[in-house]
Amino acid sequence: MIIAPSLLAADFTRLGKEAARAESAGADWLHLDIMDGQFVPNISFGPAVVAAVRPHAKKLFFDVHLMCGKPEILLEPFVKAGADQLIIHVELGEQVLPLIWKIKQLGKKVGLAVNPPTAITAAQPYLDKIDLLLVMTVNPGFGGQTFIHECLPKIQLADAWRRERKLNYRLEVDGGINNQTVAECARAGADTFVAGTSLFGARSLKAAITKMRKIAHDNDPALADLKVPSLSSPLLPL
Ligand code: DX5
Ligand code: ZN
Repeated sequence: MIIAPSLLAADFTRLGKEAARAESAGADWLHLDIMDGQFVPNISFGPAVVAAVRPHAKKLFFDVHLMCGKPEILLEPFVKAGADQLIIHVELGEQVLPLIWKIKQLGKKVGLAVNPPTAITAAQPYLDKIDLLLVMTVNPGFGGQTFIHECLPKIQLADAWRRERKLNYRLEVDGGINNQTVAECARAGADTFVAGTSLFGARSLKAAITKMRKIAHDNDPALADLKVPSLSSPLLPL
């Protein structure tokens, strides 16, 4: 189980210290949300900020989520800034395959994200080429939104495909993850949890990470005889 605090919810006046705090609080990864004002209706921060943060959390794996319309111009700058993994969106269509190869060429891990209104089947052609599949559980662009429950069957399907095809991509969820929704996602098969507001907003980041990891672990269907909820009547496309 990977717990990845999202820097989007940290104190922007002291990002280096916040990243260091996440590292010493026991985070596995740091999630960095890059928004370009085009692919999503918001702007966050760019490679210069990531490069400035990197030395403050040398051991943390940097999970860079590109919510950007032209990621091809940003891959190298983010690799130079210290990204370990670059996540692109399946909604980019024909650009997806060349982007995957480019990220691999740069020697970094590849993630592929699927927005709530997009069918999870859109990711199917790429599953054997990626290190991580990100099922978005809110519409990207802003922190602090409410988890969209209709995304749960997509996680179940992505987990079933992984087992059937003996693939080993990580299954990440992002948006509205708290101590309730982390349990639901873990039961559905997710193993990598991005959380901004619920972690950075907690009184103790360390206690919040420890608790979230324990809940995810306790709800891991591989470790316990848990009943997986059924795939009935999804409101969003599978
Ligand atoms: C949403 C971002 C998320 C965001 C999650 O566009 O991709 O990573 O930081 O924030 P919370 O956990 O507050 O929903
Ligand atoms: Zn994100």
